[in-house]
Amino acid sequence: MATQSQPSPPSQLHEQRAATLVQALPYIQKFAGKTMIIKCGGAIMVDEAMRQSFADDVFLLHSVGIRPVLVHGGGPQITESLNRFGIQTQAIGGHRITDAATLEVVRMVLVGKINKDIVSALNRFGEHAVGLSGEDACLLKVTQRDEKLGFVGDVVGVNTDVLARLTDEGFIPVIASIGTDDNGQAHNINADLVAGELAAALQAEKLILLTDIDGLLTDVDNPQSRIPKISADELEEFIESGKAQGGMLPKLDAAKIAVEGGTVSAHLINGTQKHALVIEIFTDDGAGTMITKGNMGGGNIEGGNTGSGNIGSET
Ligand SMILES: Nc1ncnc2c1ncn2[C@@H]1O[C@H](COP(=O)(O)OP(=O)(O)O)[C@@H](O)[C@H]1O
Ligand SMILES: [Mg+2]
Repeated sequence: MATQSQPSPPSQLHEQRAATLVQALPYIQKFAGKTMIIKCGGAIMVDEAMRQSFADDVFLLHSVGIRPVLVHGGGPQITESLNRFGIQTQAIGGHRITDAATLEVVRMVLVGKINKDIVSALNRFGEHAVGLSGEDACLLKVTQRDEKLGFVGDVVGVNTDVLARLTDEGFIPVIASIGTDDNGQAHNINADLVAGELAAALQAEKLILLTDIDGLLTDVDNPQSRIPKISADELEEFIESGKAQGGMLPKLDAAKIAVEGGTVSAHLINGTQKHALVIEIFTDDGAGTMITKGNMGGGNIEGGNTGSGNIGSET
């Protein structure tokens, strides 16, 4: 019988896998029972493989006792459908100008198509995901943001009860970003802002915004210029500097709303990278940009993550 002095490649692989699981343990313990609001951008939802992989990640979170609450956008799909109907579309500061005809298409695509695609991807694992729009059970109450934008709402109230009941029962709410005003009129809401408001209302542990870029960049054309960590105050200065444009603006507003409203940290990560969500939450090697209320000093206090992570340095 041959003796082996070196581990064979398969056993090395098994060791690595086991090490990864063991490394995840403190994060699993820390986050069990905690609510995390996860918003996925339109670019991720267009690609079926990415959508399935995202659903795998969300289900892993759910399986270890985290309470995920999903919010989705649908910008590219809405634009495509509007084009098909011959409806012109335009945005101001990351918000789509929404007249009655646009609203009809937004609602159709968000609630009827994208929401159900995500719910179906998640329900490959069982009967867990429940699709909702902000109109259901008056989940999202809004007022008009700006007359110039038309039927675009700002969230003024959240029915947290319905979400708490669903997550208590082990369901994963999947929310389309439509809300209603006092007269029952539907409004389109930027999905990042919905996620930020939900994070504050539910006192979530984390707000995670999955987008198509590596995080907040000081120069949008230079991928090397990522800001790993930033406080809400510094964010204010960053916004004023004009270095964030378009779709990034509501993300930064959402992060501020969340952390100033009691969420421990907000994370901006690249959801087009496979397993970005799991890497961010369960490993020391997070990427992207982490936003917290105040400055956090040297260590990574929240157990996820900017690359210098160390769960032991919690304060
Ligand atoms: N300073 C910045 N750092 C990173 N991205 C930025 C910045 N300013 C503008 N952006 C843009 O914001 C986009 C993300 O917003 P958006 O297109 O609305 O995506 P999503 O579908 O995820 O909401 C990025 O693809 C990028 O082009
Ligand atoms: Mg956007």
